Amino acid sequence: MTSPTNVTRWRGEDLGHPIPEERHAVSVCLPRWRDNVGYEEGDPAVTGAMQCGYPRFFFHPDTARLFAECERRLARPGECAIAFPSERVARRCAEFVRRETGADVRTAACWSDSVHAVFMPVAARETAKAFWQHTGEILPSRQAAALLEGRGQLNSSESVREKQLIRERVASLQGCSADDVYLFPSGMAAIFTAYRLFQRLRPESRSIQFGFPYVDNLKIQQRLSRVKPVDRAVSFFPRGAESDIDEVARLAAAESLLGLFVELPGNPLLGSPNVARLSELSLRRDFPLLIDDTLAACVNLDTLPVADVVATSLTKYFSGAGNVLAGSLVLNRERPYYERLKTLLADEFEDIFYGEEAIVLERNSRDVAERVPKINANAARLCEFLAERPEVANVFYPARVDRANYERHLRPGGGFGGLFSVVLRDAAAKTERFYDALQISKGPNLGTSFTLCCPFTILAHYRELDFAESCGISRHLIRVSVGTEDSDWQIERFAEALRECHH
Ligand SMILES: Cc1ncc(COP(=O)(O)O)c(C=O)c1O
Repeated sequence: MTSPTNVTRWRGEDLGHPIPEERHAVSVCLPRWRDNVGYEEGDPAVTGAMQCGYPRFFFHPDTARLFAECERRLARPGECAIAFPSERVARRCAEFVRRETGADVRTAACWSDSVHAVFMPVAARETAKAFWQHTGEILPSRQAAALLEGRGQLNSSESVREKQLIRERVASLQGCSADDVYLFPSGMAAIFTAYRLFQRLRPESRSIQFGFPYVDNLKIQQRLSRVKPVDRAVSFFPRGAESDIDEVARLAAAESLLGLFVELPGNPLLGSPNVARLSELSLRRDFPLLIDDTLAACVNLDTLPVADVVATSLTKYFSGAGNVLAGSLVLNRERPYYERLKTLLADEFEDIFYGEEAIVLERNSRDVAERVPKINANAARLCEFLAERPEVANVFYPARVDRANYERHLRPGGGFGGLFSVVLRDAAAKTERFYDALQISKGPNLGTSFTLCCPFTILAHYRELDFAESCGISRHLIRVSVGTEDSDWQIERFAEALRECHH
């Protein structure tokens, strides 16, 4: 059995190491359950060991050095700095920090015409960091390192070419024109841009979050809205059931909606709402519909025909290597919002996707169409194995939840993706031991060609565990992203951990 040792990081001594082992990796090894809790608690034994982290959540050492250099050059006494890839992004962050904290905040150009930093009192730094996380409009560590070395300009002639290649690749996967594909420095930056477009159309309206989403999809609609109070800003339907569509229909009949956001399938429960029905409703009641198809792994589902906009985190399956963040928005020409969104994007869109990131992503994504079918097959087999085990209470996987809604959009040859979540029986007593015994890479991120898992609820919802549980997301949930390794090897890893935790 092949064991991909170069990227398998699960041992105690791997704590804090990048996954994969390279400077700009976007995952970090948190090998034991308690390391994940320690990270969330800010335990210096964990955070001090971290050589990197998921870049929207953890400032990479190169990025942190850039901020320190901005401070050294331009900060006034008592100020700290966070740098962003453009003036407009920095201004958005400054406005957010002012709105949330009332602090005195300013922006200034650092390093180049494009890179701007937000200067603020140290007490407001966490709020600016929340903007960085939720909106994903980040300055990546590759660019920070290059800027510190006196390079770091956004584009070279090579990167302009690579960006075009990526847009053509996304277009061919989505079945649209490359002219309708827009690239961003993260999946969240893509979604946040769509949200801003919708805000420009209907600034006073509420959005709909349909189904329990990836954490920042909801945070954007709560914290980046201008509508107060927050329950007027977004109506949230965590279960995404048919009866919830009836409720959306009632709302849409009574007021105009900002737009509806839905993941297909959803993270972390892999449910599939009835987007065909939502799509009909959006046409009848005139609101834009955004589908986040990240977990459909680029090749499995064809969702663009039922959406106005499809957003994808290219960080995940498209890249597959776990060493670059990126996102895309795709517009559907056949839908009624196309012209309006296109016109607004001409003003709202800025190319802030760093050229060297594009070069890495272009290389990584060449084999996406070959990688994913193998991942589909491996995940299906591993889920089948786990679902039959008496120690397992639940396996959440698109073939096992809302299957008919998922299958309605299957492409020829498409499968159920590589992501699933698992909850053990007697979870409070068994989970930690099982997790610690599991000999696969353990850290944030998904969609890599190597298998990767994390205690997702702990990492994404640590400060709102009761809320997550009220939505059906167990705090003991383990999310697994299945890779391309030998399937027997994968199954043996899980079998071993199950044996270990029942000793
Ligand atoms: C479904 C989904 N959408 C969007 C995102 C955000 O993507 P990114 O981390 O590239 O900003 C993620 C994960 O992070 C996700 O799982």
